[in-house]
Amino acid sequence: MVDPAAPLSWPLPSADIVGEFGDGTLRLRAPVNSDLPGLVTSSRHADSQRFTHLEKSYSRGDAEAFLRTMARSPVAMLWIVDDPDSPGQFGGTLEVRLVSREARCVELGYTTAPHLRGRGLMTAVARMVTEFLFDYRVHRVQIKANPENAASCAVAVNAGFAHEGTARDAEMLRGRFNDLDTFARLSTDE
Ligand SMILES: CC(C)(COP(=O)(O)OP(=O)(O)OC[C@H]1O[C@@H](n2cnc3c(N)ncnc32)[C@H](O)[C@@H]1OP(=O)(O)O)[C@@H](O)C(=O)NCCC(=O)NCCS
Repeated sequence: MVDPAAPLSWPLPSADIVGEFGDGTLRLRAPVNSDLPGLVTSSRHADSQRFTHLEKSYSRGDAEAFLRTMARSPVAMLWIVDDPDSPGQFGGTLEVRLVSREARCVELGYTTAPHLRGRGLMTAVARMVTEFLFDYRVHRVQIKANPENAASCAVAVNAGFAHEGTARDAEMLRGRFNDLDTFARLSTDE
C-alpha cells in the first residue's frame, strides 16, 4: 500500500489516453507537427481570444514555441485531443498543470477545435482524463474558469466537478480584472 502522505510522482506517464466518444474513439495523444495549423485556427477563434491570453496575431511560430515550451515544462503536460471524426487530425488541447506534488493536486486547461465545439467532446475528455489522473494517485483535480465563459463552466459541471466558489478579480485579462470560478473533483468524491 502506498503511503498517502507520499508526494505525487511527476511527470505522469505521457502515453495515449484512450476511451469512447459516441460510436467512435476518444484519444489523447502526443502533439505532432501536423497539429500546428489546427492550433493556430483554434487559438485565433473569437472564443479563445475572449477567454484566454492568446494573441490575435497568433502564428505558426507561436504554436511551435508553445509545443516546445510544453515539452520542456517541469510543471505542465500537454495532450492533443484527436479529432474523433478524422483520426490523426487536431481536435483540441488538454493541459494538466501541477499545482502541488505534496497535496497531489493538478489543474486542467482545455480548448476544443472550433469545428468540434458543442458536441460534448471536452466534457468527455475531462471525465476521461480525471479518471486517468486518479489512477496515478492525483487526489484533487481543479478547473478555473471565468464565470462568463459559460462553455468552460458547463464542461466542468457536466464532467462532475463541484463548483467551490468564485475568486473576485483573480485574473487580469486584456486590461480588465475577471473573477475566476473554481471547480474540483476529489479522488474520494462519490
Ligand atoms: C470551453 C470549450 C473547451 C468547450 O469545449 P466543447 O467541446 O465545446 O465542450 P462540450 O461540448 O463538452 O460542452 C460545452 C457546454 O457548454 C455549453 N455552451 C456552449 N456555449 C455556450 C454559451 N455561449 N452559453 C451557454 N452554454 C454554452 C454547451 O451547450 C455545452 O453544455 P451542455 O452539454 O450542457 O449543453 C470550448 O468552447 C473552447 O475551446 N473555448 C475556447 C477556449 C476556452 O475558453 N478554454 C477554456 C479556458 S478556461
